[in-house]
Amino acid sequence: MCGIVGYIGYRQSTDVLLHGLSKLEYRGYDSAGLAVYHQGSITVRKFKGRLQTLTQDIANSPIEATVGIGHTRWATHGEPSDANSHPHANHHATIAVVHNGIIENYLELREMLMKEGYRFTSQTDSEVLAHLLDKLYEGNLVVAVRKMLKIIKGSYALAILCEKEPDKIVGVRKNSPLIVGLGESENFLASDIPAILNYTRNVYLMENDEIVICTQDNVTILDENDLEKQPDIFKVNWDAQDAEKGGYEHFMLKEIHEQPESIRKTMLSRIFEEKDYVVLDDVKITKEDLDRFQKVYIVACGTAYHAGLVGKYLIEKYARIPVECDIASEFRYRNPLVDKCTLCIVISQSGETADSLAALELAKAQSARVLAVTNVQGSSIARAAHDVIYTWAGPEIAVASTKAYTTQLLCMYALSMHFGLLTQHLSKQQYAALRDELFDLPRLVQQVIATDEGLHALAKRRKNAEDIYFIGRGLDYYVSLEGSLKLKEISYIHSEAAAAGELKHGPIALIDQGTLVIALLTQDELFNKTLSNIKEVKSRGAYVVAFCKENAEIIRKEVDELFVIPKAADDVAPVLAVICLQLLSYYFACERGCDVDKPRNLAKSVTVE
Ligand code: AGP
Repeated sequence: MCGIVGYIGYRQSTDVLLHGLSKLEYRGYDSAGLAVYHQGSITVRKFKGRLQTLTQDIANSPIEATVGIGHTRWATHGEPSDANSHPHANHHATIAVVHNGIIENYLELREMLMKEGYRFTSQTDSEVLAHLLDKLYEGNLVVAVRKMLKIIKGSYALAILCEKEPDKIVGVRKNSPLIVGLGESENFLASDIPAILNYTRNVYLMENDEIVICTQDNVTILDENDLEKQPDIFKVNWDAQDAEKGGYEHFMLKEIHEQPESIRKTMLSRIFEEKDYVVLDDVKITKEDLDRFQKVYIVACGTAYHAGLVGKYLIEKYARIPVECDIASEFRYRNPLVDKCTLCIVISQSGETADSLAALELAKAQSARVLAVTNVQGSSIARAAHDVIYTWAGPEIAVASTKAYTTQLLCMYALSMHFGLLTQHLSKQQYAALRDELFDLPRLVQQVIATDEGLHALAKRRKNAEDIYFIGRGLDYYVSLEGSLKLKEISYIHSEAAAAGELKHGPIALIDQGTLVIALLTQDELFNKTLSNIKEVKSRGAYVVAFCKENAEIIRKEVDELFVIPKAADDVAPVLAVICLQLLSYYFACERGCDVDKPRNLAKSVTVE
């Protein structure tokens, strides 16, 4: 999604803005621009395409300035173009605005402003903000902003620069993230922390409806009633290099390799080698609460939804509570049966996904207890939930989610085991056996990652595949869904996942001579069933690549290629299997020359519906 950076201080502001925007590239964008205050007026430069175009333009024609705002845009209203890029300015460019989110009533505002003689130069919803501020401005930018907030509807994070008040930048947010970075004789605004980490670790996470006024030496936060508020400063405890490639060719590969460590971290101080209980500090759900819940909903989008499917399986198995897992954009519009006897678990890496946040708000409004599983401290979803489990995966930059997914799975294990102990459907012995399996995972994951040449070779041989099908049963089906999503999003190969037992109800019609089918067989009880499905597709000419655990190699003669993952209990095997599929997708994308970390049409953080 779009990215915002604002700067006021003593440095060359174009450098700070361009650097900050480069750190937000992972969010996905199609144009970039900036506005700075220079010799008594505001200069705007903005271009369709990569940030490099803007950087080159500034290099060709530098602007001396120490205050400014910058933006990377991901088109929603209006095609990607120079004119639709941000910042947007009023007619004489005395006020410039960058905006993330959507102004829902922009059409009516646009019409009203046009009647008053305002001329629009873009197709965006955001441009109304610049003209509206022009109309409302009477010598005090903050007053004009507050008036504007009473008129506009929708979601927004804004950074604003005003020619008549060049000693400040003003920011505001509603349902779209905006953070303030506090430095020495300099201050920053940004939509995400990596943008400012080069300069400061002191961060304030803005709340909805607050206004921030940054001057070179001061940061003032006004609450929704315009009362000054003491900001609760948060110290960022991860390094800028955690968000850098660190020698890997792509962020995705780096993040796949980080999984032994991220899994270990997620377990740290929650599951203990010698103890027979789980500690979840920010989850206050008691046995009485669980007895009251008649239903659990797990709601999420994309990869997080796939983690939710595994969560459903685990909670039902260990705690014997009925769970429904829903796609957030469906859940929010289908009038779900939610009340005070409902627990709603929202899973989101970014904690900012618009549909997931809306689903959370809906569940809360209907009195449900809401638990968030997220990777981003202080994110909107974390803040809105009653209980939180952080995945502690560290920053995930590649658009394709990898370590966030496996740490979400770890949280699902921890939560379901915790619930299982509380409801007493999980015995201490069962708990101990599972705990030991989880503790062994980082080592096994390392083993899977270290033996990836076979996966690379397969991708090389089959890089021209046009369709790839994934099949599996039970947990293997959920992993198939994730494997298929990963493959299509970064390699652009058409792919589908099918529950193996469903093949003969339709999907098998697509199997032809040489069709590549990836079959997962990590579930002992379902092994023979899936094997029968493999025979079905083989007899229609499929080229079958199977993944099974050690000691199951008897199927070697039944398939065209076999990959063996380390032996692990059925319930934890998905973690190992999915890493094979992440690597396979990665190599397919590389072999096809795709932009692995920034696949076309996708954004890291989907903050609009
Ligand atoms: C994952 O590879 C995807 N890019 C995407 O499906 C993602 O998982 C989804 O947009 C949800 O994001 P969130 O976890 O930040 O809510």
